[in-house]
Amino acid sequence: HCIPVILSGGAGSRLWPLSRQAHPKQFMRLTAEGQSLLQQTWQRLQGLPQVQPPVVVANEAHRFLVAEQFQELGVTPTRILLEPLGRNTAPAITLAALYVTEVLATDAILLVLPADHLIQDVAAFQQGLQRALAPAAKDWLVTFGITPTSPHTGYGYIRRGEALSDAHTYRVAEFVEKPDLATAEAYLADGHYLWNSGMFLFRAQSFLAELAQQQPEILHNCRLALREGREDLDFIRLAKEPLSRCPSLSVDYGVMEKTQKAAVVPLECGWSDVGSWSSLWEVTPKDEFGNSCRGDVLTYSTKNCFVHGQHRLVALLGVENLIVVETADAVLIAHQEAAQQVKHVVEQLQAQQ
Ligand code: GDD
Ligand code: MG
Repeated sequence: HCIPVILSGGAGSRLWPLSRQAHPKQFMRLTAEGQSLLQQTWQRLQGLPQVQPPVVVANEAHRFLVAEQFQELGVTPTRILLEPLGRNTAPAITLAALYVTEVLATDAILLVLPADHLIQDVAAFQQGLQRALAPAAKDWLVTFGITPTSPHTGYGYIRRGEALSDAHTYRVAEFVEKPDLATAEAYLADGHYLWNSGMFLFRAQSFLAELAQQQPEILHNCRLALREGREDLDFIRLAKEPLSRCPSLSVDYGVMEKTQKAAVVPLECGWSDVGSWSSLWEVTPKDEFGNSCRGDVLTYSTKNCFVHGQHRLVALLGVENLIVVETADAVLIAHQEAAQQVKHVVEQLQAQQ
């Protein structure tokens, strides 16, 4: 069987001012369907026979948001692991893998899913997952590769190697996390590279064996954080002290760039990481002038804008390529091209506190 591990610990600071520390983007209902990104992450697995209720790894501060959003769907997660502090994705995945092998005492296949992606073609996504099950059962750490459309520097890049015996599966010849722009441009021109989607499929044991090689300190501290943690209703509160000693590292830098056991299954499913306002603009429906508006919004002589009005009427006149996000206590006005830098506003605000 297969246990989804939903990573829900990120802050989503590039979607300020809608995404806040107390209510980050994975809990926001960003699309017309009315479900949050976290809820959609679970919903798009429906119909897959092997899939068990998820293990969710989230920040302690968000425990009620997580619990409520699953309750709304009528699902009881296998467990919600609560981090007193985030140590990035390598520890978060390790905690889930240890929980499954040491507490549940099974060697399940884990499907690691970030809680903040949009996928348009669910059937294609599910087909990709089915394809990845056989290589994962054989000890491969399977990633899902997306055909790149721009030299995005916020993603991992995978060079596709030789075909494996399982259909639609390739060895990963090289994995490069977040290259600089010149490198990303070269990869795009090369044509043999895929974006890492950030979703993974592997046996819990395969991952832990690789981690023992690459990051023994993470393994050790996560094991202590789980053993010294305490159960509380549906939650496990992980122990703070060992977790604070654990290196903060993403699974991409910590494991995927280093392992020889990575495989990739290409996926064409309308995937997008809703990382910034402009990536949200790209995937949402637009009017004939390229404007994507929600709320009480008026546009005139306006092109390619993303406008979100929450409390007041917002009118745009004679402007192009802007992001306007109006909330009760903050308004963002940014150029589409500056969308990645919204996190600097948040950093500045935090520095002032
Ligand atoms: N529980 C927990 N704890 N979750 C976390 C933590 C943490 O400390 N840090 C991040 N996450 C969650 C985020 O909420 C998100 O759902 C997921 O893990 C991935 O983290 P990001 O911070 O969004 O990673 P990224 O977008 O920079 O890069 C990853 O995703 C790209 C595709 O979207 C990498 O895997 C890239 O290689 C990949 O291309
Ligand atoms: Mg991301």
